[in-house]
Amino acid sequence: MPARGALRRGLLTAAACAAAGLAAVAAGCGSSGDTTTVTVTRTVAVEPATLRSASLGARVFAEHCASCHGMNGRTPTGTTGEYGPNFDDVELTSRAYVDHRIEYGGYGMQSFATELTPDEREAVARYVLTGAGSRVREVAVPRDQLAQGRRVFEQHCRTCHSIEGRAATGRPTWIGTDFGEVRPSYDLVYEKTINGYYWWMPSFRDQMRTEEMVKALARYVEKVSGGRPFRDPFGNP
Ligand code: HEC
Ligand code: HEC
Repeated sequence: MPARGALRRGLLTAAACAAAGLAAVAAGCGSSGDTTTVTVTRTVAVEPATLRSASLGARVFAEHCASCHGMNGRTPTGTTGEYGPNFDDVELTSRAYVDHRIEYGGYGMQSFATELTPDEREAVARYVLTGAGSRVREVAVPRDQLAQGRRVFEQHCRTCHSIEGRAATGRPTWIGTDFGEVRPSYDLVYEKTINGYYWWMPSFRDQMRTEEMVKALARYVEKVSGGRPFRDPFGNP
């Protein structure tokens, strides 16, 4: 298994984050320099349980999630229904956010609160957090492109999406993804802007007068998203 080393390293970090509890999650576990010490001290102690949990997570994902969600270079396996995002295209920075989605589902996703045991839910959450985001890039964005992207976002996307700690203006009718909790790739933003997203989000093909607008928008969203602690839009704990 050639990918084993990388997989194990990632999973150990996720486990250490979970062991460190809420403080680490709030600090943006896995993506923040603040959590490094915790990761190092816990690594040895949690290893056997982590490896068991990793294979459980992979199995639960294959059985319950892979029909709608791609990850690790694989496309969704299902033949019908509405697909969720490919997790290679979203960096998930918050364990609480992933737990919440598994617990409550979403527009096109059912709740897994009763279908999975607590152990299975925890294992699959770790598996997803660890594997997601491989196509999200850290790219230097010129200042004026960033400013242009921000303007396009303010005009067309802010009604439904939170970003940079600012709430969406159109809640609660349409709750779009909070880009504080999810960091999408350039390609995902580009694609959704042009094509829309099923009945949840309209296409903006006609509003984007130049390709530069779409590029700036996609660079901006990829650049500034992620890293914020989870806040439940429905007020659930
Ligand atoms: C029937 C298809 C379907 C299945 C099965 C499914 N999901 Fe989803 N999932 C979706 C869709 C569609 C979305 C995005 C829109 C929505 O529902 O809000 C989504 C969104 C998500 C998100 C939020 C991602 C983001 O970018 O904000 C997470 C996390 C998630 N799913 C995890 C899971 C896990 C873990 C499983 C398996 C236990 C699973 N999903 C099974 C369809 C599915
Ligand atoms: C009418 C409301 C609405 C508007 C306006 C809107 N969106 Fe969305 N968007 C949504 C909803 C709803 C979802 C699915 C939420 C979910 O996954 O649970 C979504 C999902 C997305 C996703 C996928 C995120 C993920 O992690 O799966 C991207 C990327 C996105 N929107 C980008 C944009 C951009 C860029 C704009 C502006 C050009 C925009 N949206 C405007 C409602 C909207």
